[in-house]
Amino acid sequence: MASELNIHICIDVLDSAEELTPQEREAMELAQQAANDAYAPYSNFLVGAALVLEDGTMFKGSNQENAAYPSGLCAERTALFAMSAHHPNTKIKMIAVTARRRSEQHFLPAMPCGACRQVMAEYEHNQGEPIPVLLQGPEGKFYRLRSVSDLLPFQFNKEHL
Ligand code: THU
Repeated sequence: MASELNIHICIDVLDSAEELTPQEREAMELAQQAANDAYAPYSNFLVGAALVLEDGTMFKGSNQENAAYPSGLCAERTALFAMSAHHPNTKIKMIAVTARRRSEQHFLPAMPCGACRQVMAEYEHNQGEPIPVLLQGPEGKFYRLRSVSDLLPFQFNKEHL
């Protein structure tokens, strides 16, 4: 008889920015500002990410594209790698991500790609504490996940090497 491995994921859906904590609101606003600075002349899809560090320092990143398309980098990894280069061994308390089309002012659902989930997972694994993730959702809503593991369950990490 096969057994089951059940993975339970619980996502808070917040109907508007008013339901965010002050720190979440600040992080999401920084992510929105970061998106405005994206270098995305090819996709015109502007993505912004913000990190809140354990001492309250905020860090932002945006997607950086390139004429040789695969050479570009997503907003989340731009923010995470820059953060780790400047503040190695610092714990991350939150990641916020948003996106919009250049031609429109409103923000769109921001779903981190698989590679960014994998990179987030490594920092979460290293720090030994969950990193909550706040994502822009549809129609002005937000999704709050308790951990990167909820974005990437059943993950591969360095213990598997
Ligand atoms: N992008 C991100 O910055 N983050 C993601 O998680 C998904 C995609 C960027 C990459 C590219 O510059 C543009 O969005 C279109 O794919």
